[in-house]
Amino acid sequence: PELNGDGAEILMKSYACQRRTPLKHHNAFLTEALEILAQNAEFNDNEGRSVAFRRAASVLKALPHRVKSMEDLRCLPCLGDHSQRVIKEILEDGSSREVESTRQSEQFQAMKALTGVFGVGVRTADRWIREGLRTPDDLIRTGQQLNRAQQAGVQYYSELQRAVTRAEAELIMAIVEAAVNSVLPGCQIQLMGGFRRGKEVGHDVDFLITHPEEGKEEGLMSKIISWLEEQGVLLYQKTTRNSYVERLDGPARSASNMDRFERCFSIFKLHSSASRSGSASTSESGSACDSGCRAVRVDLVVSPFSQFAFATLGWTGSKLFERELRRWAGQEKQMTLSSHTLYDSKQNLYLRAQTEEEIFAHLGLEFIPPSERNA
Ligand code: GTP
Ligand code: MN
Ligand code: MN
Repeated sequence: PELNGDGAEILMKSYACQRRTPLKHHNAFLTEALEILAQNAEFNDNEGRSVAFRRAASVLKALPHRVKSMEDLRCLPCLGDHSQRVIKEILEDGSSREVESTRQSEQFQAMKALTGVFGVGVRTADRWIREGLRTPDDLIRTGQQLNRAQQAGVQYYSELQRAVTRAEAELIMAIVEAAVNSVLPGCQIQLMGGFRRGKEVGHDVDFLITHPEEGKEEGLMSKIISWLEEQGVLLYQKTTRNSYVERLDGPARSASNMDRFERCFSIFKLHSSASRSGSASTSESGSACDSGCRAVRVDLVVSPFSQFAFATLGWTGSKLFERELRRWAGQEKQMTLSSHTLYDSKQNLYLRAQTEEEIFAHLGLEFIPPSERNA
């Protein structure tokens, strides 16, 4: 095993969910490069390749020191030939030609710009690029057919490109709390996603809502949305109903790892003055976003109390950490983990949990706190 500066052994476990990955680490100069290649693989619909680069980057994030030579990488897991080649070139020449030419390529930049529009996925962006479109402006200029989400995405494009600050997240938390408390007292509301992991900025703000009395949470989302709409807070919203059914013979195999909670993808309107002073102002109604206004993506999820621990774990991220948890459960434990439940295929039963700690224990994993799930 590799020795660090003090001669102590670094034992790098191979699943990201077995490791502590802090937000700030020592190898951004390498991980940013590998993540460009990961993103490019995603744009080319090559998920396997993308995950391989993300796993490699994630290992470097967990290292307690800056990589100085290829020697430092001996005995580390998840570093394939391709990742090693890229790292070697960066260590020797300061940059990788493959990474730089990818970064500069017209295809990559257009994919980045178009998938950066809320409501636009890789398939759609790819079709538009083959039709000669490159930017969100091109979509407007050529009068492309857009669905409701994409229309909002184009309309608020530059606002949604701006990172959401923690102060703005707190402000939105206050608004969501006001909404939830006025439609159903006694709820629990939790800030999820990157902000729960300690990030200072995010691309959106994620919330998980539950009520300690099982069943009370049914139909809650539509009431919250009505309240927010009356207050003129919403620029866009799309709500999906809860479609989760617990099957006695274990969870159905599903192609996507999307969960089935009652949820809402939305765009909130904040008044810029309010987001500066930190006080919520929701008096003005209407759906326009004028110059004194800020548009922020918000995800709301409602979970039954019995699934709250699983939902909490599932919505904290990072995406790679979640993916690795599910892979660990399946490959090492013959279990199926989702944001709803954990199913043990050897015992043919659902393992219940009230807390995240209990879920890690069921999985035979050491508990990793949210701030160290930045894989
Ligand atoms: P930023 O928003 O960019 O700061 O990062 P983030 O980590 O908060 O990402 P995001 O808001 O996209 O997702 C937050 C967490 O929710 C991640 O761990 C995702 O894996 C998870 N998540 C998002 N959508 C779904 C979904 O449909 N199902 C499940 N189970 N999890 C989801
Ligand atoms: Mn988020
Ligand atoms: Mn989100």
